[in-house]
Amino acid sequence: MGAGTGTGIGLLGLCAVLLALPGAWGDCEAVPRFSFAEPRNPITNASYPVGFQVPYRCRPGYVGVSDKSFLVTCLPNNTWAWDPDFCIGKSCPEPDIENGKFHYSTDLRFGATINFTCNFGYRLVGRPSAQCVLVNNDVAWDKVPFCEIIPCEPPPVIVNGLFSGAQTEYVFGLAVTYTCNEGFSLIGSSTIYCTADAESNGIWSGPAPECKVVRCENPVVENGKKLTGFVEQYTYGDTVAFECLPGYFMNGSHTAKCDADNNWNPPLPKCERRYCGRPPSIPFAELVGTVSSSSPAGTTLEYRCNPGYATGDGKSLEVTCLGNTSWSVSSKSCTRQQCTPPLIENGFVKAEDFLFGATVEFSCREGYKLQGSSSAQCVASGNGVRWDVSLPTCKTAGQLTVLCGEPPSVANGRHNGTKGEFAQGSIVVYKCNHGFVLAGVSSIRCTARDEYHGVWSTPTPECRGGATTIIVGILPLLLALLVMSF
Ligand SMILES: *[C@@H]1O[C@H](CO)[C@@H](O)[C@H](O)[C@H]1NC(C)=O
Ligand SMILES: *[C@@H]1O[C@H](CO)[C@@H](O)[C@H](O)[C@H]1NC(C)=O
Ligand SMILES: *[C@@H]1O[C@H](CO)[C@@H](O)[C@H](O)[C@H]1NC(C)=O
Ligand SMILES: *[C@@H]1O[C@H](CO)[C@@H](O)[C@H](O)[C@H]1NC(C)=O
Ligand SMILES: *[C@@H]1O[C@H](CO)[C@@H](O)[C@H](O)[C@H]1NC(C)=O
Ligand SMILES: *[C@@H]1O[C@H](CO)[C@@H](O)[C@H](O)[C@H]1NC(C)=O
Repeated sequence: MGAGTGTGIGLLGLCAVLLALPGAWGDCEAVPRFSFAEPRNPITNASYPVGFQVPYRCRPGYVGVSDKSFLVTCLPNNTWAWDPDFCIGKSCPEPDIENGKFHYSTDLRFGATINFTCNFGYRLVGRPSAQCVLVNNDVAWDKVPFCEIIPCEPPPVIVNGLFSGAQTEYVFGLAVTYTCNEGFSLIGSSTIYCTADAESNGIWSGPAPECKVVRCENPVVENGKKLTGFVEQYTYGDTVAFECLPGYFMNGSHTAKCDADNNWNPPLPKCERRYCGRPPSIPFAELVGTVSSSSPAGTTLEYRCNPGYATGDGKSLEVTCLGNTSWSVSSKSCTRQQCTPPLIENGFVKAEDFLFGATVEFSCREGYKLQGSSSAQCVASGNGVRWDVSLPTCKTAGQLTVLCGEPPSVANGRHNGTKGEFAQGSIVVYKCNHGFVLAGVSSIRCTARDEYHGVWSTPTPECRGGATTIIVGILPLLLALLVMSF
């Protein structure tokens, strides 16, 4: 008995625990609640067994999604499971708003709110937003506003003029054009139109023009002349253009307009003479002619490059005094010129560069001897530069030639040797001028002095002058002949 009671109490206790935890039986409790759907039948049972399926239907304003299940199922872990969003809000139709637009964030379905705006020139009449609501079991926008064209006040009336295009109502985009009475000038913009400000209030695009009598005096520019704008009487908006006489430069605007205040605007220009200061100094060049401390605009000065320097094209440089009182900048410059780089066969050239003023030194390879000058300098010559001596050569001992310089000249006579150097063995023949006779030898020969240098043979012929000398010279000879014949 005791044991039976004990067992009974134990079973009872277990039952109590299981009742306290209904899920332990595999049951699901209260069916889920949705905003978009509700159970098809009234709910009576407090719990449902695992696998039980509760049918649902869409609430008003919602519509079922075709490929989704409307059943909510009790799972073994005591929870309900269902297809997400098996009913969705019904769509409201796109609202029709002329001259405006609507804006939405997600969609146009039941519950959505949309905003309205109007195109520029229109303003909204009604609430700026609408909601998709339930109307007789269907959905519709609760209220749709409309866009109205913005009106303007009638355009301003002006004195001495009127506007065309009068209307009973002036609305956005409409323009009116003003004209002035005969003899009056229209100042400002002749046409204005109805537009809108940031708050969608109708405003005119600008102030109405004015009609005024405008007279500008005949424009005269001293030392200048009018190019355009020849009329008898100058009135508002008339334009004149000017030019200065030769040698004068304009200070001010070339053109001026007759303004509403009866003045020329900008003010009439002035024609002035301009001068440049001292001419610029140009590197390695000097001014041709005299230097003045002030030259009128238009003056052109010429510069010549210093010896050994030249411009790219070899011509002189020029600068001109400009109308802005500054000397023009020459595009050319004087640059140091270069002599032809020397080439010595079988020898060497030692040089920093070959520019004007440079000195180069020559030497020969081993086994060769230098014949000629051992150095040369790049010197100015005419408009260019050249080496001051003829370039030497490098020769083997056998090739060396003995050379003589120019043969000695004699008074009252000449020789047939041309200028330059003469090889060993060269002969020059002397002849005396008319009335002079040759004394001694008639020719000389270039002979070797040492292995490189030659000398002309001596004695050098002489030309002795006058008949007396001839007689004096011949007399002993005649006497000798006479003596011999006897
Ligand atoms: C709901 O309870 C009634 C009696 O209370 C029972 O007949 C019915 O089978 C139960 N339905 C479900 C689905 O458990
Ligand atoms: C119950 O089971 C389902 C399917 O097995 C699972 O997706 C869900 O997360 C479970 N719920 C809980 C509360 O454990
Ligand atoms: C509609 O207007 C409201 C209030 O001005 C604003 O908060 C909301 O973001 C707007 N919605 C859209 C989609 O423009
Ligand atoms: C132009 O005229 C104004 C006023 O007379 C003067 O101050 C100015 O220096 C002139 N400009 C030139 C470039 O001469
Ligand atoms: C003068 O005019 C020349 C050419 O228009 C310009 O290059 C130069 O800079 C001007 N000089 C000055 C001082 O304005
Ligand atoms: C000068 O004339 C002589 C005789 O006619 C001639 O042999 C010699 O070569 C001439 N010298 C030169 C340098 O022409």
